[in-house]
Amino acid sequence: MEKGTQDELRRLTALGLHHRCAQGDLARVAALTLEINRRKKERGAVVCAHVYQAPDIILGIGDLVGDSYKLADDCRKTSAAEIIFCGVHFMAETAKILNPSKRVYVPSKNAGCSLSEGITAADVRRLKAEHPGLPVVTYINTSAEVKAESDCIVTSANASKILRRLYEKHKALIFVPDRFMGANLAKELGKTPGKDIFLWNATCVVHEKFDPALIEVYRKRYPGLVALAHAECPSELIKAVDFMGGTGDMMRYVESTNAAAYLLVTECGFGELAKLRFPEKNFIAMCRLCPYMKSITLDSVLALLKAPAAVEVTVPADIAARAKVAIDKMFELAA
Ligand code: 13P
Ligand code: SF4
Repeated sequence: MEKGTQDELRRLTALGLHHRCAQGDLARVAALTLEINRRKKERGAVVCAHVYQAPDIILGIGDLVGDSYKLADDCRKTSAAEIIFCGVHFMAETAKILNPSKRVYVPSKNAGCSLSEGITAADVRRLKAEHPGLPVVTYINTSAEVKAESDCIVTSANASKILRRLYEKHKALIFVPDRFMGANLAKELGKTPGKDIFLWNATCVVHEKFDPALIEVYRKRYPGLVALAHAECPSELIKAVDFMGGTGDMMRYVESTNAAAYLLVTECGFGELAKLRFPEKNFIAMCRLCPYMKSITLDSVLALLKAPAAVEVTVPADIAARAKVAIDKMFELAA
């Protein structure tokens, strides 16, 4: 092994990367991260990595790491010439809308999202016609076209706060596209679906399938266990856990508490990262893989760096301008 690769391997190992959480042989991972980091630097690019990405991406090449809110905020502020988004397409589109002079890339053409694909701009226009005058609050997991039809964007990190603020001025609102998140928020805020919150019917293919009955099984097996679930899970499951939130909230909860064990009901990458960040804590990951997030690999990032034009993200200027108004509203109300 060359000296440069040996040094890179040592760097990755010191960060906590080991063969069980790397996608493939560690020496090969080190050779890839070394080349990616060199090419990235030459281009003046920054790599954004969502917490559902594999640890070799987060630790090996990630410059900006976090949930969808933090990454959107990081992207609007970055001075890097290019943004390589190791996350899903709607996140990269959001980055392009917020910082249009940057070139933005997603390493995989398969990095979609079932929520984003579950609603179109025409659907939102129909909802607005059915409920005239109601504000449209849209989860960030949507296309730029859907955002352009919306009044305010939210992420899992700020949805509850923003909805509370909007209800100070509005009796009712439209929330799209996640029906489970919408129902969970309605319950938390004491609102009734169909009366003061109108929902759409899209779901996350990862979070919709967790079995609520298993929470009790884990509680019996691990006394003192605290169960945390992402807000995209069905209400039946949320009823059975101790904490509901986005990935940023869940990570902060883990950091600030000291439970005997944590059951993490979300995508598997989150649990892998939590274990690396808090090796002294005990995690039980009741997890599922997101096929969209996991379509990104180090090999796909290297391929991007060799032929970026094929995976550049673009948003038509008129759509971007309208979508930005709704995203900026989120930053204003989340502050
Ligand atoms: P977070 O913003 O909570 O990271 O959620 C993104 C997502 O896609 C969850 O499935
Ligand atoms: Fe979309 Fe669900 Fe994957 Fe998140 S986990 S990107 S919501 S499909």
